[in-house]
Order: sequence, then structure tokens, then C-alpha cells
Amino acid sequence: MKQRILSGITPSGKGLHIGNYFGAVKPQVELQDKYETYYFIADLHALTTVKDKETLENNIREVILDYLALGLDPQKCVFFRQSQVPAHAQLAVILANYTPYGQMKRMHAFKDKLQKGVKVVSINMGLFNYPILMAADILLYKPYGVPVGADQKQHVELTRDIAENFNRTYEKKVFPLPKPLIQKETGRVVGTDGKRKMSKSLQNTIGIFEDYRIIERQIMGCFTDPNRIHPTDPGKVEGNPIFIYHDLINQDKDEVEELKRRYRKGQVSDIEVKKRLIAAHKLRFKTARQRRQELKANYQLVEEILAKGAQQAKRIAQQTLAEVYFTLGLGKDSSQKR
Ligand code: TYM
Repeated sequence: MKQRILSGITPSGKGLHIGNYFGAVKPQVELQDKYETYYFIADLHALTTVKDKETLENNIREVILDYLALGLDPQKCVFFRQSQVPAHAQLAVILANYTPYGQMKRMHAFKDKLQKGVKVVSINMGLFNYPILMAADILLYKPYGVPVGADQKQHVELTRDIAENFNRTYEKKVFPLPKPLIQKETGRVVGTDGKRKMSKSLQNTIGIFEDYRIIERQIMGCFTDPNRIHPTDPGKVEGNPIFIYHDLINQDKDEVEELKRRYRKGQVSDIEVKKRLIAAHKLRFKTARQRRQELKANYQLVEEILAKGAQQAKRIAQQTLAEVYFTLGLGKDSSQKR
């Protein structure tokens, strides 16, 4: 029997960026061949920040198309929307009872808000409870591993703690402990500011499916070696975001090596290196862009994929929920004894 993998993406902004792709989506696509995979759109999670109906609908649609176009294969994985599987919300309510408040206060998403000057009294409970819903997302499917970027590690660790706490309480191994699967090289793709993690909210992203005028602007505005003023100055390649992106995106490895060599010697301008990156981006995502166009033109098919995915996900999720209800003492004794 194949081991199970689960992961999700929050549709909190318009579309995915290359950090999402190399940190999470690409490894998830690769796992489809070896594992039983469950991937979903965490649309309930988006409510922590998106309060406009049309924006939410639009974000969900965009991310669904991006995710599929980047290589999720509905023949191989179960692809669904979180809100279409009610067990996610149901289990979250239960798991809150096995989650210490002290641990929740240490969660990054919450602490980041406080650091940004947001007053604790104005933080909505959806944001505060977010990691509990995420634990429910994961534990319902009892996965072996959760492929995510490094920023989600703390959430998967909390999930393990909640699972352990639950299992200990009832002296029964209801939940196996899921492993965070984080890429060493690409688990934290740096943003175009060269400092912070690439993130929609920090506006330091390089998109994938945006209009090329936007992507060109993002790449041309990217931070490089700050000590290099003229193209004839020898430049630093290591840790330079433009070369980090070349290594990720550009499939012509000889070209990348040649650019690095010339950069080190002061024989190539930043502009040329950036222009070559734009060209490499176009080539790299050409097929995905075409696939996305096709899916968008045939959205009915996408809805069918999601409906089928929700059905398949529900089967597993309901089973776990019934087991949990039974374990707690909420089960119907005739139908749920196992
Ligand atoms: P989200 O939507 O913020 O991000 C989706 C995935 O992309 C990864 N990621 C990155 N990886 C490398 N470098 C970056 N700069 C970068 N930025 C984002 C994220 O780590 C993530 O894997 N809470 C999750 C969604 C979620 C989930 C789940 C994931 C909800 N329930 C259950 C796994 C299992 C989130 O907001 O990811």
C-alpha cells in the first residue's frame, strides 16, 4: 500500500509565486507518482484576511487554475476545496480542546501580526486559531508526510503535538504523527528584496502566471549585489537573489554558469543577467501557461475535478471523524463501533 501525503495552499492573494512553486508545488507534483496524494485549496483559511466576497471567489479560482496548471494531475492525486469537506471544520472544533493556549501564543503568524504593530485585541480568532484548523486538515487524512515550505514547519510541529496529546488522552493511537517534508535547497525562497522570505504580503514576489509586463518589472527591480556599481565591477554570485532565481528557473545550466563566470569578472551587466532571467522564465513556464489557458476556457471540467476530489476526500475524512467521535464518547454505538 502506498503511503499518504497531504498538503494545501491558502488562496489569500491573487495567484502563486515562484517561492510557492519551488518550495511546495514542485515537490508535491513529484510526489504524485510514488504516494497516495491529497492536495487542497485551504479556502476557509483565507477568511483570516479576505473579507470581500468577489475577491475571495476570484482568489480561489486563480489558485485552483495555477495549482492544476503547474502539474497537479487529477488522475494521480485527490484535488479538492477544504470548504467542500465539512469534516475539516468539525475536527478543528474538537482539536481546540487538546491545544494549550500557551503554545498557540507562540505561533509565528500570530506573533508576526503583533510585531507589525497590530493590537492583540483586534486580531480575529480565525487568525489565532488558524494552526488548529491546519492540524485538522492534516490529521483527518492521517498522512505520512506534509510537503511544505519552511514557514509551515512550526504548524506541522504543532499538529504533531496536538495528535500526541489526543492519543495520550485516550490511550489510543488514533493519529499517526505526520512528518514535515521540507526541501533543503528551496524550502525558503528569498524575496526580490534579497532579505526576507518571498511572500505576497511583503510584495517581494516573482509571479508565475501574471502578465509579463508585471513579471518583467518584478525581475528588473530585483536586488542584486549591493556593492557592485558598474557592470565592470567584479560581482558576488553567492547569495545574490538574481542568481538564486537563475539556478531555480533557468534550465540552460551552461548559460547560468557562463553568466556567473562573467559576473564574477565584471563582464556582464545586471540588466543582461535580468533579461536572461526573464527569457528563462518565459521558457520554463510556457507549457504551464498554455495549460492554464485551456483549463480557464474549460472551467466546467475544473469544477468536475473538484467535485470528484471532494467526494473522495470526504470518504477518508468522514471515516477519521467517526473514529474520533467514537473515541471521545460521541459516537453512535451501533454504526460506529469498530
Ligand atoms: P501558503 O498558501 O502560504 O503557501 C503555500 C505553500 O508555499 C510555501 N511557501 C514557500 N516555500 C518556499 N519559499 C517561500 N518563499 C514560500 N512561500 C510560501 C508554503 O510553505 C506552503 O507550503 N497554512 C498553509 C496552507 C495550509 C496547509 C494545510 C498546508 C492549510 N492547511 C495543511 C499543509 C497542510 C499556507 O498558508 O500556505
